[in-house]
Amino acid sequence: MKLIDINDLRKLIVHVGMENFQRKILLTMEKDFRRWQEFSMSPRHVTYCPDGVIELMPCSDADQYSFKYVNGHPKNTAEGKLSVVALGLLADLADGYPKLLCEMTLLTAIRTAAVAALGAKYLAREDSSHLAVIGTGAQSEFLASALMEVRPIQCISFFDVDAKAMTKFARNLQHLDIELIPCNGVFETIENADLITTATAARSQVQLFSHDQIKPGTHIHAMGGDSEGKTELDPNILSKCKLVVEYLEQTRSEGEIQNANHAVVYAEIWEIIANHKPGRENEHEITLFDAVGFALEDFSSLRLVYELAQEFNIGQELSMLPSLDDPKDLFSLLVSP
Ligand SMILES: NC(=O)c1ccc[n+]([C@@H]2O[C@H](COP(=O)([O-])OP(=O)(O)OC[C@H]3O[C@@H](n4cnc5c(N)ncnc54)[C@H](O)[C@@H]3O)[C@@H](O)[C@H]2O)c1
Repeated sequence: MKLIDINDLRKLIVHVGMENFQRKILLTMEKDFRRWQEFSMSPRHVTYCPDGVIELMPCSDADQYSFKYVNGHPKNTAEGKLSVVALGLLADLADGYPKLLCEMTLLTAIRTAAVAALGAKYLAREDSSHLAVIGTGAQSEFLASALMEVRPIQCISFFDVDAKAMTKFARNLQHLDIELIPCNGVFETIENADLITTATAARSQVQLFSHDQIKPGTHIHAMGGDSEGKTELDPNILSKCKLVVEYLEQTRSEGEIQNANHAVVYAEIWEIIANHKPGRENEHEITLFDAVGFALEDFSSLRLVYELAQEFNIGQELSMLPSLDDPKDLFSLLVSP
């Protein structure tokens, strides 16, 4: 079994190139969403604890199986820990043997940004040039970079309740040839935006902005509201939007739509990617991707990492599984040679 730890993943990404890796994840995911019916899937298994959640996210096709362990603990950063950390495993269905154990904290940020880019590719106006970022924590620079790959972003306005997080965001993106506009509040951030991302962390029903503050033609990528009782948007926004989700069965209880029983969901994103339904249809509609994070996205990412790690011989072989001359003689491992 191969182990890809955080250093191996960084090595792999440096080898492939960050932009190239991001693009490969987006394309792998897009192909997998297009063959949606080939997957065996279920909503994730969620364990709630006082300050967060721990989730197990399984998914498989005819050949491979994956799952991710991921948490969400918004208060962690106050103690110098990440809000979100993750590990993933990929196995062959033929024999059930795990073949990859992979760090997924960094990988989750990259795959989550790729999901945002995929949503924007089908739902944001082609000429979207102004991005508004609300919440400039761990995920934020990944999001901005991935969205710049699919839309001609010239300017990013941004806001976070933590001034240090805003300084960090500006520092990490200062090398890009775009205008960075730090803002003093949410409305100032979104008022001229074509595309809005919300990636804040709070275990409560927050309303970052109201329905009448959104201009026609905007695309909203809402991803911080991703578990029961943790949402970011005014529920009235949902009825004004073309509303798209990843997997309705999961999003019903975890996404923004948990606060709007009567919200009409236009499509699961795979239906648009597979050409069963059109994405954006005009310059005026407001589109909203209520993205909570789905196991298929991790399956695609793990599959890609495994293929690249094999190709470039990156990672360590772990003696995690027994290797026996007689597979029925497991006891021999404890008998002295
Ligand atoms: N949908 C998905 O697939 C997915 C994947 C990863 C993370 N997430 C979620 O996205 C969110 C962001 O993740 P992260 O790793 O960047 O977390 P983080 O804790 O590093 O950053 C969150 C930021 O939001 C800011 N914030 C909190 N409330 C705010 C408010 N009202 N207005 C403006 N800023 C505010 C915080 O100060 C912090 O800087 C989390 O809620 C996480 O659970 C979703």
